[in-house]
Amino acid sequence: MLRCGVLVSGRGSNLDALFQAKRRGDLPVEFVLVATDRPGVPAIINARNHGIPVWEASPQDFATREAFFSAMAETLHKAQVELVLLAGFMRILPASFIDRFPAIMNIHPALLPAFPGLHAQRQALEYGVRYTGCTVHFVDPGVDSGPIIAQAVVPILPDDDEDSLSARILIEEHKLYPACVRLYAEGRLQIEGRKVRILAPRESSEGSAGCGT
Ligand code: GRF
Repeated sequence: MLRCGVLVSGRGSNLDALFQAKRRGDLPVEFVLVATDRPGVPAIINARNHGIPVWEASPQDFATREAFFSAMAETLHKAQVELVLLAGFMRILPASFIDRFPAIMNIHPALLPAFPGLHAQRQALEYGVRYTGCTVHFVDPGVDSGPIIAQAVVPILPDDDEDSLSARILIEEHKLYPACVRLYAEGRLQIEGRKVRILAPRESSEGSAGCGT
């Protein structure tokens, strides 16, 4: 089974959605490590409760940002992680980290390329768009700029505030992220430049994880 490592920085509701999908039998992957830059966050407690190995470290405890990411990458490598999933991980990954893994995915609470970076829901409200949503994409060295795998659209209602909108988007995030991870695990994502093609299911149930280029 595809070996996944998940990077988290906080609440971990997307991490939990991934765990639930696996428990339902909808996600043919193994979660082999959950790592964080914020020791003790709820996501890490949940991972522990699921018996999944965790790595917790503060970047302040390392001489440089590179040293922190190098230690994190080393731990993921030792766990033989094949796919890295960002689930509310609040740091930009250096290119040297990204280069070390076959693929890294992220989920972002907006319809990219609109509203990248922090406070995406607030950005959408302030801009006045009628629809926003969430995006799952492969990670490149930019900020939320990698090839898009899938998106879900969420309407903005007249009385929405940041909390109500975030909650409505989150419902879609929790469906979209496991679905995208599953596509990857089944070998059904093919990257063509900026575009990601979603391949039809194979006849046989034996998918080979990964994505073609
Ligand atoms: C989510 O909105 C996700 O899209 C963004 O950060 C938030 C993380 O929430 N990248 P959680 O920790 O998964 O609950």
